[in-house]
Amino acid sequence: MKPLIVINFKTYPESSGKKALLLARRIASVKSKKYDLALAPPLLELEHMCNTVNLKVFAQHVDAQTPGAHTGQITAQDVRKLGARGAILNHSERKLPFLMLERTVKECRKDKLITVVCAASLKEAKKVARLQPDYIAYEPPELIGGETSVTSAEPDIIAKTVRSVRRRSPHTKLLVGAGVQTREDVITALKLGASGVLLAHAVVKAKDPKKFLREMLK
Ligand code: G3P
Repeated sequence: MKPLIVINFKTYPESSGKKALLLARRIASVKSKKYDLALAPPLLELEHMCNTVNLKVFAQHVDAQTPGAHTGQITAQDVRKLGARGAILNHSERKLPFLMLERTVKECRKDKLITVVCAASLKEAKKVARLQPDYIAYEPPELIGGETSVTSAEPDIIAKTVRSVRRRSPHTKLLVGAGVQTREDVITALKLGASGVLLAHAVVKAKDPKKFLREMLK
């Protein structure tokens, strides 16, 4: 399986509204043979992106509800019907209580959504590994959005997290994120045993996202 690169659009001005689709088209034009790419746009752009861009689209979050009287909730079933292939859960900017996270992973599994459960520490990665998600994304919050990559700041913790997750949930792969912005960051992540990266601002805020990604993924 190819390493997975998940580009989280978050809610940056450069990756929201009409600009989300423009950015997605630029990313989709970077044909990578080495990596599997997935985009996580703002929810309001999700359906349109699923219908116009030939890349996996992930929800940035879903709620642990089944269809019913749940005002304002985003169900796994809904995002799956819109065309999403997966969901990021428990991102440090959208944390979930563990029991809610457990229910959400189960709902996503029922609707065949790939689950990417974020963990802010090695300790949390060990805990969420019990849910056996498809991926765990190790992202130390203090490095998110910054210029220091988790791969250069915490190589030993990444290697430990790879081993810990593998021991607790052999089928769960590890992604790493926070400050990832160069080809070396991606290569280092893979050398440390990760199965890909999660990144946001380096792509979203790049002067030329297409050129930036082409360089990162070559
Ligand atoms: O979901 C990935 C994101 O939290 C990483 O952010 O801007 O450090 O790449 P960034």
